[in-house]
Amino acid sequence: MKRIAILTSGGDAPGMNAHIRAVVRTGLARGLEVIGVVGGYEGLMEGNFRNLERKDTVNIVSQGGTILKTSRSEVFLSKEGRAKGAKNLKDNNIDGLIACGGDGTLKGAHALFKEHGIRIVGTPGTIDNDLYGTYYTIGFDTACNTAAEAIDRVRDTADSHGRVFIVEVMGRHEGHIAMEVGISCGAEYISVPEAVTNLEILYEKYTQLGFHNRTIIVIGEGGGKYKGAYELAEALKTEYNIDAKCAVLGHIQRGGSPTVRDRTLASHLGLSAVDALLAGKTNVLVGRVHHNITYTPFPETWTKRKELQPYMFDLAELLA
Ligand code: F6P
Repeated sequence: MKRIAILTSGGDAPGMNAHIRAVVRTGLARGLEVIGVVGGYEGLMEGNFRNLERKDTVNIVSQGGTILKTSRSEVFLSKEGRAKGAKNLKDNNIDGLIACGGDGTLKGAHALFKEHGIRIVGTPGTIDNDLYGTYYTIGFDTACNTAAEAIDRVRDTADSHGRVFIVEVMGRHEGHIAMEVGISCGAEYISVPEAVTNLEILYEKYTQLGFHNRTIIVIGEGGGKYKGAYELAEALKTEYNIDAKCAVLGHIQRGGSPTVRDRTLASHLGLSAVDALLAGKTNVLVGRVHHNITYTPFPETWTKRKELQPYMFDLAELLA
């Protein structure tokens, strides 16, 4: 193996730059050439490749976003699109590819492997933390810290005015961010797609515990009975005549300098992804469970579910 490539795809996640840096530096240390694919799978299909040297990775470890840019490519969902991408890899003599992203990225990587025999490993880059095969994904910790800081601020104004706030956090399908952030901000109620949002319980707490002067409800955007903050606010108004203010945190959770945890995770996974390619691994997600590097066949990362830990539900209920 002489030349490897790396791309970032799907929603960007803080720590992707630390990951690229680790891939480049490990690759060079192992005597490889490292190519950056600019613009995710779109860039792969366009042949938008650039050589990455050590100097390209100076001072990026602390930067949010991704220097390689990213995309959500519709065209890459087609066989024709993937054939173009595979041809560009072969024409550029690339022996192995590292694809960093979420479930869509890993599905694309699996198809590239199956249809064209591309040697490819994936790394978990998404704030959502919804991939089976790794305890944490790159970006999750930063997104949670960003959301927690915002909610602490909302708490001040909720407290001052005696208001109910519903804060909506990201997490397309699963409630990892909502649960983690809700617990760490002492939310009075956490609504996640993994559990039924019970308005009666919420109301009971609101009245009996007397915390209605400063109520924070954290809801994951990812569905469940109420799809987002505004829908839940409407239900509270209709059912119990409670006026709740909504704050949708949105994309601010995706930006900013990565936390130390994200930087070290991203670095560890970068080094390990290069070594996985060199060891002949392919069609797997390179993840980390506790402190061990794991290799999970791509399909398992979306067919198996990373469940929220039961203790989290206990914390959410008992400590609210
Ligand atoms: O996949 C990460 C994520 O931020 C999700 O939490 C969110 O639902 C989605 O991306 C938003 O995607 P986009 O930036 O394409 O609107």
